[in-house]
Amino acid sequence: MTASASLRPQQKRMPLQSGLVNNIQSLVKVSNLDKAHKINMKNIVILVSGSGSNLQRIIDTIDNGEIQNAKVSLVVADRECYGLERAQNHNIENILIPRGKNFSSELSKIIPENTDLIVLAGFLSILKPEFCENWSGKIINIHPALLPKYGGKGMWGHHVHHAVIEAKEKESGATVHFVTPGIDEGEAILQKSFAVTEDDTPETVAEKVHLVEYEIFPIAINKVLGN
Ligand code: GRF
Repeated sequence: MTASASLRPQQKRMPLQSGLVNNIQSLVKVSNLDKAHKINMKNIVILVSGSGSNLQRIIDTIDNGEIQNAKVSLVVADRECYGLERAQNHNIENILIPRGKNFSSELSKIIPENTDLIVLAGFLSILKPEFCENWSGKIINIHPALLPKYGGKGMWGHHVHHAVIEAKEKESGATVHFVTPGIDEGEAILQKSFAVTEDDTPETVAEKVHLVEYEIFPIAINKVLGN
């Protein structure tokens, strides 16, 4: 027997009725809040080329509230990749635009006008200068090193990690930065380092980089969205 079932009918009726009114009022409030929330919701478009673990991190941190007032409205891949599958698994609109010289112009055609932020999360194509300028201040990238070190043409993924080990660096890290026409040259938003030890290999450096990326990416996104 529950506590309320043990109450006498009269005692039970009053709180139930006022409770109902309160419930209706709070439902109205919640639905108004929900409307306002949806209006203010920032739309993020994410570009991927690979496994998309950073994409997953963004999806998860939107779900758990670490990134506020935002939704992933579209995922664009420039090749078949697991990132695309992750988007499908979460019922996020997704599209494959094959890499090549028309990528930026095709992307311009389909990108929703109400996009607040474009996030390059392990994206390998180089975007045309015009595209970067049109979206200036609204495109960010994550790079697996402490920029300006190990940035620029050809410096991506395992190339970066090999270079870091070969140079016997004592530290490396990850950087979230704005995207400008110059490759990896945009202003840094957030950077975090970790120690590289003598036992490290390009593979272990890659693992350390990912951990740091998962930490700083949601913080940087909140920062750019003004959260
Ligand atoms: C990340 O290390 C990112 O810095 C680099 O590519 C990697 C992508 O990893 N640009 P994932 O696809 O997010 O797992």
